[in-house]
Amino acid sequence: MNAAAADALMAKYDVAGPRYTSYPTVPYWENVPSESQWLERVGQALGAGDAHGAALYLHIPFCRALCTFCGCNTRITRTHSIVMPYIQSLLTELDLYRRHLQVSPLELGELHLGGGTPTFLTPEELEALLAGLFERVRWRSGAAASIEVDPRVTTGEQLQTLARHGFRRVSLGVQDFDPRVQEIVNRVQSEEQVRAVTQAARALGFDSVNYDLIYGLPLQTRDSVQATMDAICRLRPDRIALYGYAHVPWIKPGQRRFTEIDLPEGEQKRALYELGRERLEREGYREIGLDHFALESDSLWQAQRAGTLHRNFMGYTTAFTRPLIGLGVSAIGDAGDAFAQNEKDLQRYQERLAQGELPLQRGHLLDAEDQVLRRHILRLMTRLETRWEQPDDYTPFLATVAQRLSEPAADGLLELDAAGCRVTERGRAYLRNICMAFDARLARRMPEKVIFSRTV
Ligand SMILES: C[S@@+](CC[C@H](N)C(=O)[O-])C[C@H]1O[C@@H](n2cnc3c(N)ncnc32)[C@H](O)[C@@H]1O
Ligand code: SF4
Repeated sequence: MNAAAADALMAKYDVAGPRYTSYPTVPYWENVPSESQWLERVGQALGAGDAHGAALYLHIPFCRALCTFCGCNTRITRTHSIVMPYIQSLLTELDLYRRHLQVSPLELGELHLGGGTPTFLTPEELEALLAGLFERVRWRSGAAASIEVDPRVTTGEQLQTLARHGFRRVSLGVQDFDPRVQEIVNRVQSEEQVRAVTQAARALGFDSVNYDLIYGLPLQTRDSVQATMDAICRLRPDRIALYGYAHVPWIKPGQRRFTEIDLPEGEQKRALYELGRERLEREGYREIGLDHFALESDSLWQAQRAGTLHRNFMGYTTAFTRPLIGLGVSAIGDAGDAFAQNEKDLQRYQERLAQGELPLQRGHLLDAEDQVLRRHILRLMTRLETRWEQPDDYTPFLATVAQRLSEPAADGLLELDAAGCRVTERGRAYLRNICMAFDARLARRMPEKVIFSRTV
């Protein structure tokens, strides 16, 4: 395809759209489950008898300073006086689940600490959290524990504490190495800091080191991304998430601290991703789903090959674990046929727990159509293909999908037949757009104002 045709394609499909970490997507959640409905669904998913056990996500919202691009739920602070009460809240919340579900201990197939910045916690605070946690849960064999860390605040002692408790996967927020970009997004960190944390983790037995990178940040250019990729290739992590910068200043006012004129957009933005992708593939990385890469030796690539790759609110994971129980402020849980999100305000989250309630703020009970469409979107996101021949995989809305996909198919983004589709190499860049064709709720009610970031 020549450059002009590629530009035209990009312009055509660069619309606001979801990232599909869930279906229905959060703005379309309705039918909020009551506490008892939610617990019933979680209990059913736990009892469904799959061999993997539950997944547990713990949200640690604290960060020392705001990176101005950040879209996460954070609490910017330098004080540690709020940490121990927060750890107590997490354990209280876990106890509420255990009591209601009548499981003691809870069996886990997956554990993830995310944020904010989990390594905001001192080694002693981390120890208190993990010791309390492991009094209440038990590992299934083959279970995986992972954590997100900020290299600027991560020490060998914290990593030792994590390794002692069985953590073997670590994800470092790297974002970009260019000094001008780092300055404008208030996130200055050196290659040396990243190398030190990577080496310390490997020496302690962590077998999968991931780096989060972002393309589309203000002031990024082809040269700056090239230089960041040079550094990444010197450091050689096992996995890389190359996220498209999600610009949503109406939700995250911190993103107004740089001017939009400095943001690469459309074809210019996508070219930065392509540059990164080509470089990573030359270095032996394999592209996985949306925005992810892994070395062939990494479990994420092996899961992709074995067909066990899964995607949930934590991103891509190596095994299908359900239910996902989310603990902490703003954390999201997934029982398969229901979602629930905790209070996003820290004080409110803690007050409701103190009253002995699960601090659920919003959620969704999936109807039969939601569940079918959710499976198709999940398959597209993990395997780049889906079929609806089986009665279980069919819902009448799919009759309109072929029509909706005919134009992208004519543009070479996917191969389409009467009962299925497969995304082509060219179509990978438009995976979110292709999933949108399966989004019945979006088709029935387009948002009145912009709520999603751009798909490109
Ligand atoms: C919780 S942070 C990772 C841990 C730690 N707080 C750090 O920044 O090093 C999660 C990741 O989300 C990504 N992220 C945050 N805001 C984003 C945005 N607006 N668009 C795309 N990715 C974003 C960043 O790559 C970041 O590393
Ligand atoms: S990117 Fe990480 S460190 Fe920066 S504000 Fe967001 S959560 Fe905190």
